[in-house]
Amino acid sequence: MKKIFNVVGARPNFMKIALLMEELQKYPEFQSVLVHTGQHYDDKMSKIFFEDLDIPKPHVDLEIGSGSHAEQTAGIMAAFEKLCLTEKPDLVLVVGDVNSTLACSVVASKLCIPIAHVEAGLRSRDRTMPEEINRIVTDAFSDLLFTTSKDADENLIAEGIPSDKIFFVSNAMIDTLLEHKERAAKSDIAQKLGLSNDGTTSHYALLTLHRPSNVDEPETLTAIIDAIDEIQERIPIVFPVHPRTDKQLQLFGLDRRVQQMRNLILLKPQGYLDFLSLLSTAQMVLSDSGGLQEESTVLGVPCLTLRENTERPVTVWEGTNTIVGSDKDRIIKTAFGILEKGGKTGRLPEYWDGKAVERIVKILHHLFFHSVPDSIV
Ligand code: UD1
Repeated sequence: MKKIFNVVGARPNFMKIALLMEELQKYPEFQSVLVHTGQHYDDKMSKIFFEDLDIPKPHVDLEIGSGSHAEQTAGIMAAFEKLCLTEKPDLVLVVGDVNSTLACSVVASKLCIPIAHVEAGLRSRDRTMPEEINRIVTDAFSDLLFTTSKDADENLIAEGIPSDKIFFVSNAMIDTLLEHKERAAKSDIAQKLGLSNDGTTSHYALLTLHRPSNVDEPETLTAIIDAIDEIQERIPIVFPVHPRTDKQLQLFGLDRRVQQMRNLILLKPQGYLDFLSLLSTAQMVLSDSGGLQEESTVLGVPCLTLRENTERPVTVWEGTNTIVGSDKDRIIKTAFGILEKGGKTGRLPEYWDGKAVERIVKILHHLFFHSVPDSIV
C-alpha cells in the first residue's frame, strides 16, 4: 500500500484534483489522502467546489488562511512538515501553481519524499507574477512532471529537467470540464439573471478579475473598469467578483462606479457548475485567470486575456484566446471586434480528451509497482 498526499489549497486546485482522487480510489494499492491547506477558506471559494464536484471532504485541513506571500507560504510549510513527519506519505502530489503548491513541494523535497506535479512546465516568463515563481520552484523539485501541452515539455527540457521525469498526459482540469459539462448545462443561473439562455450562445459577456497586477494598482484597475464601462453599453456583462477584487474596488473608491453601471451584473464568486454554465453560453469572456483561457478554448468561447503574457500559449496558437493586456483601448477594440465579426473559434489542443487523470494514475501505478501499463498515452 502506498500513501499519496494530494494537496489542494486554492480555488483553481479543486477542479484539478477532483477526478484524480476518484481515479486513485479505484486502485486498492493506493491510500489516497486529501490535504487542504486552507489557503482559500470562504464557502464560495472552497466548500461549494467540493459539493459541485463530489470531492470527498479533506482528510486534513491545515486552516492556514490568508496572509502575505511569506506568511502564507511559511504557515503552510510549518504545518505540512509536521503532518508529513507523522504520516510519512510515499508521494506528495501537487497541482497548479498557487502558494500551497510551492510550500508543500519545498517541504516534501527537504524530507526526501517524492513529488508529482500535475500541470508542470507552464511558463509565462514573467517573474513579477507570483505563480511563475511557484511553477519554477515546484518543477525544479518535482520527481514526476505531468504536462498539459508539448510546449510545457520543451520548457522543462530547456531548464535541464531530465526527459524521463516528464510525462505529457493532457489536462486534468479539462477532464473535469468534460465530465461536468452536461450537469452544468442544467443550471438555470443565466435565466435567473434575466439573460436569455436556451443553451446556445447568448448575448452577454463574462468577466473575472483577480490578478494582483490588475487589481492592486489603482491606475490599472481604473483603466480596466473604464473599458468595462464602455463594453457594457453594448452587451450585458456578468461579473462574479473575487474577494481580493472586491476589497480593492472599495479601497480605490471604484465600488460605487461599478454598482451604477446599468448593464454590469455583479455577483458573488460562483460555484463550479453555475460558472461553467455561464461560461458555456457567453458570447465572450474577459479575464485574467489562467484556467479560463483553457476552459474557454475547449468550449469555443472567445477569450480576451487581460494580461500582457500567458503561460498557456497553446490557447492562443490553437484556441480562442487573445492577449489584450490592461490597455483600455485595446480591450474595447477587441471586444467590439468580437461583437461585430465574431471571435476566434479555435480547435481542441492535442490530447485534451478527458483521459489525463487515467494516464497519471496508470503511470503512478506502474512506477510504484512495476506492473505493465496498458498503453499509457
Ligand atoms: C490565489 C492564487 C492564484 C489563483 C487564485 C484563484 C497564489 C499566489 N495565488 O490568488 O494563482 O489564480 O488564488 O482565486 O497562490 N480571500 C478571501 N476568502 C478566501 C480566500 C481569499 O476573502 O477564501 C481574500 C483575502 O483577502 C486574501 C485575498 O483574497 O488576502 C487573496 O487571497 P490569496 O489566496 O492570497 O490569493 P488569490 O488572489 O486568491
